[in-house]
Amino acid sequence: MYFIGIDLGTSAAKLLLMDEAGSIKNTVSRDYPLEFPRPGWSQQAPEDWREAVMEGIPQLLRGFDASSVAGIGCGGQMHGLVILDAQDRVIRPAILWNDGRTEKQVRYLNEDIGRERLSRLTGNIAFAGFTAPKLLWLRENEPENFSRIAKIMLPKDYINYVLTGVHSCDFSDASGTLLLDVEHRCWSHEMLELCSLRPEQMPRLYESYQAIGCLKPDIARALGLSRRVLVCAGAGDNAAAAIGTGVVGDGACNISLGTSGTVFISSKNFGVDSNNALHSFAHADGAYHLMGCMLSAASCNRWLMEDVYRSGDYASEQAEILPNRLGENHVFFLPYLMGERSPINDTNARGCFIGITLDSSRADLTQAVLEGVAFAIRDSLEVARSLGLEIGSSRLCGGGAKSPLWRRILANVLNLRLESPASEQGPGMGGAMLAMVACGIFPDVETACRTLVRISSAVEPEAGLAEKYEKRYRQFKQIYPALKELFPKLQ
Ligand code: XUL
Repeated sequence: MYFIGIDLGTSAAKLLLMDEAGSIKNTVSRDYPLEFPRPGWSQQAPEDWREAVMEGIPQLLRGFDASSVAGIGCGGQMHGLVILDAQDRVIRPAILWNDGRTEKQVRYLNEDIGRERLSRLTGNIAFAGFTAPKLLWLRENEPENFSRIAKIMLPKDYINYVLTGVHSCDFSDASGTLLLDVEHRCWSHEMLELCSLRPEQMPRLYESYQAIGCLKPDIARALGLSRRVLVCAGAGDNAAAAIGTGVVGDGACNISLGTSGTVFISSKNFGVDSNNALHSFAHADGAYHLMGCMLSAASCNRWLMEDVYRSGDYASEQAEILPNRLGENHVFFLPYLMGERSPINDTNARGCFIGITLDSSRADLTQAVLEGVAFAIRDSLEVARSLGLEIGSSRLCGGGAKSPLWRRILANVLNLRLESPASEQGPGMGGAMLAMVACGIFPDVETACRTLVRISSAVEPEAGLAEKYEKRYRQFKQIYPALKELFPKLQ
């Protein structure tokens, strides 16, 4: 039997075909464009996601027995607002998780409605990328579009709708809307009212590993699959990645070095960080997690390599960084290319290099970017540590984790052992595993993780280097507070 996992990311849809033993038989990646209509705004066309999946699946299955596919599961970029009209047509491009247009609405929610009330209703406060502030922005700025909304969806839910015709959402992804009562796993009627929404505009809620339905006949035909293929509710990409790296149970940690950078800590029970710096979300195994999310992680490196250097040869650029330069770089980089979420929650923050001198080299700048991202990930880890969470090691996944140099820098900046799973396809692997549970191959998600996830390598922090990076991190920590007041004046 085969299972298809879909990672519906920000730059591409990455599809994988997995067998019952968890071995990945084939992968396909289909890119799509990202629109930045204004600085700090970020949108994508749901139709592009649909095309990537509808064309990607037949390509994935070429040379394999398509009749052996039993299930499909998707891990998707979180928080994106997809709105459908009464005929289920997409009303406008989706406003994405890293879009910063809602500063005013976030202020209204956190200050007028109040952090304490939001936290009581949803377990979280408002951040610009969350879905509820986007709905308030839409109500104010595009009332015509707002009035046409028949259904609200998140990105992977739109794909699930295309495949099955069912309007669904799972608890992990729904957590990032700020419309879910995370603790009690139901929509918050107070939050819906506050955003002028009716319950029938919301999709039905499922656990990530539950089946939402089978393929629609026309879709099955177009994909060359059986109509009996089950589609599970799937999960937000971070929860799916945590499943794909085996992060379930109490206190396990996964760090994702993707377009965004996240620190994800699983927990059996619901809990809230009293400062709300970490998100308090449902996990895809039926339990909960805390998460810190930085908005630009591997995307900072991609920006430097492709947009600035026009190089694309990441490995050669990194080869210029000599081992004796690690922990010695005087150039710092603030990675706030799209503003920042965790833990500073500042849409006005911007990226910058600081500390450059005439002898600073191209390699110093490349190194500063890798280090700046690692320092910002450490910011979220520090919040978790300050809550008394003991994190002895972490799993690591995401495109950036393919670089041995970046893994080494990260392990030393965090002073943490980082374990890489045999498959670094976090969200796609998690999606396929959730589909296996939905199809009854495993009784629960934890058993699937125990059976299928294998660690292939680990990086340990090195005492001398971790000490050097400790000093650099202390310096990095002083840069943002010194510039904070300046950023809004630069707009
Ligand atoms: C998580 C978040 C990002 C996106 C990236 O809160 O916004 O990690 O899910 O796809």
